[in-house]
Amino acid sequence: MESKVKDKESLLRRLMEAGGEPVSGQMLADEAGVSRTAVWKWVRELEEDGFTVRSVRKKGYVLEASPDRLTPALIRKHLKDDPFVSEIIHFESVESTMPIAHREAQSGAPDGTVIVAEEQTAGRGRLARPWTSAAGKGIWMSIILKPDIPPHRAPQFTLIAAVSICRAIRELADVEARIKWPNDLLIGGRKVTGILTELQADPDRVQAIIIGTGINVNQEPEDFPEELADIATSIRMESGQPLDRAALAAAVLRNLGYYSRLYLEEGFAPIKFLWEENSDTIGRRVNAVMVRETVTGTAVGITEDGVLEIRTEDGSIRGIYSADIEP
Ligand code: BTN
Repeated sequence: MESKVKDKESLLRRLMEAGGEPVSGQMLADEAGVSRTAVWKWVRELEEDGFTVRSVRKKGYVLEASPDRLTPALIRKHLKDDPFVSEIIHFESVESTMPIAHREAQSGAPDGTVIVAEEQTAGRGRLARPWTSAAGKGIWMSIILKPDIPPHRAPQFTLIAAVSICRAIRELADVEARIKWPNDLLIGGRKVTGILTELQADPDRVQAIIIGTGINVNQEPEDFPEELADIATSIRMESGQPLDRAALAAAVLRNLGYYSRLYLEEGFAPIKFLWEENSDTIGRRVNAVMVRETVTGTAVGITEDGVLEIRTEDGSIRGIYSADIEP
């Protein structure tokens, strides 16, 4: 169904839906119940936002190019009618999308609400580590989920997110992302994505799961600080091609919607299978470095709770709950 035009945003959606064909200015004005000059003003505003709109004599307006941004309209263009995303809230620059998502979740934002920013000035990762989030280079977003599950099942959503992002990257770029336990995505052994899952819960019920993900998309080597030079990478650096961030954000959200549904309908087994299949850790000899000890052995699988199982020298299986995995 075509979007009804009533303001600048809906005009943009309509021009996008037209797929490069001209849309008559008079028709748009009649539909919105405004003058042709008002429509022209919306077009001018879109141009100020970085869109290229051509006016074709006697035919109407054509959307020729979109800016590289993560606005709701640009992400929704790729999401089409996917029902998972309820609202996308876009910011130019924030300290971190995580506290914003927490506040939104507490004040009643529904399942599938997305907070996304072009830049984070104080992005944070696991174990309170900083997360570098350069303007316009990656996808910095937090997704609010409100599944009806007990709190002990919430960590499984980190694994669902890892599988979803892994598949989204493979759909859009000619590179193979693999999952490093617990929740990093690597390409060629370097980190391309991190996932931070946080919880709001009552003793027996989840209120909200906040999945924060940082995806390095279009950075060049000089965009990373020196200390990350050897350990971080971007999709662009690995594939040699820039990638449409809005298309990737949409693919991540579509996959996350699909795998969350699959999990809620069929349980953890299909997710566990896909996680292990896409894992960079399983089958490898690893060192699990913890605060008090390091466990060495072969990573053989994950449990229902996402615990990593390592077979040690003496043949026994050790469950690892939290550690840094080193080769
Ligand atoms: C990690 O690997 O340690 C997790 C990194 C998570 C980064 C994302 S970016 C969007 C969201 N906002 C944050 O401040 N952190 C997460």
